[in-house]
Amino acid sequence: MYYPDELIEEVRMRSDIVDVISGYVKIQKKGSNYFGLCPFHNEKSPSFSVSPSKQMFYCFGCGAGGNVFTFVMQYENYSFQEAVKLLAQRAGVDLPEVEYTEEVKKRESQRARLLEVNKEAAKYFYYQLRGKNGQAGYQYLKKRQLSEETVKKFGLGFANVTSNDLVLYLKNKGYDDRLITEAGLGSFDEKHGMHDKFWNRVMFPIQDINHRVVGFGGRVMGDAKPKYLNSPETLIFDKSRNLYGLNYARTAHTNNIILCEGYMDVIAMHQAGFSQAAASLGTSFTPGQANLLRRYAKEVILAYDSDGAGVAAALRAIGILKEVGLSGKVLNLEPYKDPDEFMKNLGKEAFLERLSKAENSFFFELRMLQRDYDLNDPEAKTRFYREIAKKLCGFSEEVERENYIEAVADKYRIGFDNLRRLVYNYAAQTGFAAPAVRPKSGIQKKNDPKENKQKPQKLLLTWLVEEPGLWPKIKKYISAKDFTGELYQTIAEKLLEDLDAGKVNPAAIISLFTDEEQQREAASVFNTKIMELNTGAEREKAFHDIVLAVKRNSLDYFSGQLGSDVSALSKVIEGKKALEELSKTHISLD
Ligand code: UTP
Ligand code: MN
Repeated sequence: MYYPDELIEEVRMRSDIVDVISGYVKIQKKGSNYFGLCPFHNEKSPSFSVSPSKQMFYCFGCGAGGNVFTFVMQYENYSFQEAVKLLAQRAGVDLPEVEYTEEVKKRESQRARLLEVNKEAAKYFYYQLRGKNGQAGYQYLKKRQLSEETVKKFGLGFANVTSNDLVLYLKNKGYDDRLITEAGLGSFDEKHGMHDKFWNRVMFPIQDINHRVVGFGGRVMGDAKPKYLNSPETLIFDKSRNLYGLNYARTAHTNNIILCEGYMDVIAMHQAGFSQAAASLGTSFTPGQANLLRRYAKEVILAYDSDGAGVAAALRAIGILKEVGLSGKVLNLEPYKDPDEFMKNLGKEAFLERLSKAENSFFFELRMLQRDYDLNDPEAKTRFYREIAKKLCGFSEEVERENYIEAVADKYRIGFDNLRRLVYNYAAQTGFAAPAVRPKSGIQKKNDPKENKQKPQKLLLTWLVEEPGLWPKIKKYISAKDFTGELYQTIAEKLLEDLDAGKVNPAAIISLFTDEEQQREAASVFNTKIMELNTGAEREKAFHDIVLAVKRNSLDYFSGQLGSDVSALSKVIEGKKALEELSKTHISLD
């Protein structure tokens, strides 16, 4: 299943990172590095750097980083093997056929076949829309005021009135009944034989974030039911992890994503220039989708339908967004039903205005809650306030909670002290909410004790990569064993070996890891910011301190192992001696 290391290294060396990344991101040379806007988080000023000498990229904003493989993995959502394959192709390196297990082989080829047949179907529908048979569909889209450009961008198409022409077309192309059925494009029954799933509908291809067609939605042109018919879930289409329009929204470079319910809403917003819109497609918004959004935006603006079902869905979505640490706002579309209708009637200027007035999701929740209470009745009013207090306990962070207590007290004209007391009384019974658990990401918390121990190790490794000439000067005191934790040890072992051999190659070290998170962590090891120091003496002191800290940390570590590890004792003795000697030694950086 794995390619040999030498081959991976060959692919890497023939894929210049500046070259590859320039194909995806606009970067500009500044000094010895290149800079641009990070494609992995939203930002206005460039903190994404690419180093030609290290052959690595690193974002000082979000911590994304790695070598050329990491970049492709993250950008394309590929596995390590897939990234190697893509770059090998690009660089013209021949890869041997890898030995997959039968099962993996089967699943991968099935995935590939499903993607292929979907693409073929999308092309067919697209073509039909332009032809004689597709006139009704074309007219329908015109009537809904979609421009030619929009129809093209979203690859809209048409499924004919005839009930088996797609099946025939696909079979002609060599796809068999089983695959067509599995893709949800057709099915078999006694009466009709093999027939199309979609007919006489306007077709909306659903794409994954890499623009691959994974399914379809088809809309009737009149009032028949169901209004939209959708592809079933398949090996390539997981509804809870997909959002319609996200393939475009994720590169919109706005600070927010506008989340709506339907196909036409996304399309109408994109057409009006709001290309950050995506839809959960009628099904309810899931934590999987929220996590997907977290990669592209910090704030989600909910543009759900303004009817009862839409409000209920928005309230649910707010909870899910909060769970993953995204902040939410709610758009008011009144008096219109959804973004599509709003856009048609009031246009994009008005929409922009509404966007700027989107309501904080907490106030939206309170406003919805209030509808159940008659505030003229003191008793109901009291109950309402209690409910508010209860909700305020949901803020785990004190500053945020206090800010909200203040804002709510102000808005609902409750005395601040009264409300605050109510909140704390309530919390005395139930406690405040626990902080949201955020899934692993590259953004590391400051003041994490583990991080504090690792910092000197990172600094030392970065420094040695940048000034390999310093290694002989500290070799006497430091070895790979002084680096704690498996990842750091693996990195140090290889790097120190390379330093001994006189050829430093940090980007190759990153390929030792095939997991994206580990590659990211490894990249951060080589990209720690060494503080700007002016004088030689300052630099010498900093370097000395770092070496000392690494040694001290290692000594602590081995002291902790004394009872359980027999080799620890000699390490401790050696460490103490080295520390003593080090503290007296002057290491010159010249
Ligand atoms: P809506 O009923 O709000 O439709 O459903 P819409 O998006 O406004 O559609 P138009 O403007 O009448 O064309 C919202 C979404 O719910 C899903 C679709 O994804 C739709 O876009 N849905 C709705 C279905 O999957 N099937 C249905 O029968 C209805
Ligand atoms: Mn609509």
